[in-house]
Amino acid sequence: MTFSASVIGASGFTGGELLRILCDHPELEISQVTSRKYSGRSIGYTHPNLRDLKLKYSSPDELDPVDVLFTATPHGVSMNQIDDFSEAADLVVDLSADFRLKDPKKYDEYYHGHSRPELLNQAVYGLPEIHREDLKSATLIACGGCNSTVTLLGLYPLFQTGILTEKDTIVADIKVGSSEGGASGSTSSHHAVRSGIVRPYAPTGHRHEAEIEQEIGAKVAFTVHAVDMIRGASATCHIFPNEPNLTKPMIWKAYRESYQNEPFVNLLSGSGGNYRYPEPKVVAGTNNVEIAFEIDKRNNRLVVFSAIDNMMKGSAGQAIHATNIALGLDETMGLAYRSLHPTGSP
Ligand SMILES: NC(=O)c1ccc[n+]([C@@H]2O[C@H](COP(=O)([O-])OP(=O)(O)OC[C@H]3O[C@@H](n4cnc5c(N)ncnc54)[C@H](OP(=O)(O)O)[C@@H]3O)[C@@H](O)[C@H]2O)c1
Repeated sequence: MTFSASVIGASGFTGGELLRILCDHPELEISQVTSRKYSGRSIGYTHPNLRDLKLKYSSPDELDPVDVLFTATPHGVSMNQIDDFSEAADLVVDLSADFRLKDPKKYDEYYHGHSRPELLNQAVYGLPEIHREDLKSATLIACGGCNSTVTLLGLYPLFQTGILTEKDTIVADIKVGSSEGGASGSTSSHHAVRSGIVRPYAPTGHRHEAEIEQEIGAKVAFTVHAVDMIRGASATCHIFPNEPNLTKPMIWKAYRESYQNEPFVNLLSGSGGNYRYPEPKVVAGTNNVEIAFEIDKRNNRLVVFSAIDNMMKGSAGQAIHATNIALGLDETMGLAYRSLHPTGSP
């Protein structure tokens, strides 16, 4: 059975990634693609890699009825238009932060409040590795943020198996590429300004801390750096565990228990080769996450590394993975391809 799918905000970066996946997805058929700015223009005008799709943008003011509606719009759009979106589709998959948090007070703390707090509990957080069962009956999916996704995937097994608890101290250092900021750009993302940088842009109080705390029940002190790449999010989590006798086999067991059947998780042993630790370049364009760890006995430190493509596992790929589950399709449908190697900055 084929399902119809529309993308609201299709001219943006994650919208383009959704279309790139959808055009080769065997069971999802693109119906409507919207942009206010480019309404009437062809898709190739903004996404040259999709020139062969003979589709034109239309205005989001009139929505076709579809099976699945993807909303790749800035924060604030979905929460204010959720009634129209839900009327148009049986399943709404939102890539923004509008429905990720359960506690409305967190929207007051980290954002500018929420206009539909009564709907927050209906939404399912979009990471299949954590919420696979809930996704099966979801009608509103809230895909995770890219920085939170890369951090959560590295840490989740350690909390799920009780190796770490909310009493442990965790410091997460994140590096992200410029596509995280979206297609419209700003003075800080101008090429002349951003090229060559390693710039801390959210040293404390990053919004994604709230998602991480919600999903693993622990506070993670979080600092994000903008670095000179286009795609990719890399997390290095420094953990000073209360349990001083952690061993490699204990940690390996935790990762294997949580992730042994996960189709998009690659655990690296750190044992050899130039790419023995997670590297965004290696997963660019794919829905994969790479994870590795080391134990630093001298400093009683556990260090966890993880890497994703921010627009794939951190957004559009995660959205399609979650949608496949919600529709009862093979989870990997439309997502099983490899990255390029060697390649330049992705
Ligand atoms: N970029 C990433 O790596 C990433 C990762 C995870 C999550 N996200 C989240 O995903 C969402 C999209 O991100 P992005 O990077 O793709 O942004 P983007 O490149 O700026 O694209 C935003 C899209 O939304 C449309 N839009 C803006 N305001 C709208 C409105 N009021 N009604 C309908 N459409 C509207 C824009 O087109 P028009 O203005 O022409 O309508 C554009 O197509 C954001 O909420 C972002 O936080 C992004």
